[in-house]
Amino acid sequence: MNDSTMTVRVARRNIEAEGVVSFELASLDGRELPAFDAGSHIDVYLPAGHVRQYSLCSAPHDRSRYQIAVLREPQSRGGSAGMHDVIREGDELRVSTPRNHFALAAGPAKHLLLAGGIGLTPLLCMAQHLDRSGGDFEMHYCARSRSRAAFLERLANASWAGRVQYHFDDEDEHQRLRLDALLEDADANTHLYVCGPQGFMNAVLDAARANGWPENRLHYEFFAAPAVDTSSDGAFEVCLARTGKTVSIPADRSVTQALADVGVDVPVSCEQGICGTCVTRVLEGEPEHRDLFLSPEEQARNDQFMPCCSRSKSRRLVLDL
Ligand code: FES
Repeated sequence: MNDSTMTVRVARRNIEAEGVVSFELASLDGRELPAFDAGSHIDVYLPAGHVRQYSLCSAPHDRSRYQIAVLREPQSRGGSAGMHDVIREGDELRVSTPRNHFALAAGPAKHLLLAGGIGLTPLLCMAQHLDRSGGDFEMHYCARSRSRAAFLERLANASWAGRVQYHFDDEDEHQRLRLDALLEDADANTHLYVCGPQGFMNAVLDAARANGWPENRLHYEFFAAPAVDTSSDGAFEVCLARTGKTVSIPADRSVTQALADVGVDVPVSCEQGICGTCVTRVLEGEPEHRDLFLSPEEQARNDQFMPCCSRSKSRRLVLDL
């Protein structure tokens, strides 16, 4: 759990599209909220005990509020359904201070923002920042239909509306996103940012890699990990290099859970391998990576892993803990 939390009030709740509700969060005393960079997210601690990560979609220069938008997931395990059904204007919510694992590249660059559905949220924040700071960007917003696409009015009224192209699954063929055409034309100074459902993200990232984009120009943030078949998981050991302690990891416990059982706390947030909070250096052994945070190149180096979800191919892992 993140230690830097605060209580905020839901100042506004608004239906943004079919299945999408936004929440504006303000401080209790009317003061400015902590600063954040484009691409940041907060953890929201729901009354029922769930913790969920939501990207901030308000502009970073506006510290009077944080805005998040929540899609009701059909298979909600309590997070999105809890936000939709339980949280009302005037409620108090505990949230973390913003953290950023999806930052804009520094320096002069062109920014290509590809949003799938609710994945628009961090990219909307980036677009507002880039517009204000004179950055060069282009946004593509893909959604199943107009009725399910949040923030269409806000995008249409933005001073940068001309930089947005829309692609709806249920409309004419000619407006569909042509990924290869878009990606093969980009120059070497362009950075790609993608957020959305996993199938959309995989399609974009696969196309970018196939078109020769290097990993350092690919920026992405997953928001939900797919279910993993854990039926053949086995036990292994982790050795904590700083103390020499060895801890057994049973087949049915994550590394972070087993370490917490013996009093070793590794900070966690999503516990699904998507946020990067628990990243831990691996000194020996071969992890079995199950996260969506590290790039394929980073995973292949086997010198770090996400102990909230990843396991071990070797009998023992030595960790820098
Ligand atoms: Fe989010 Fe491990 S806690 S990746």
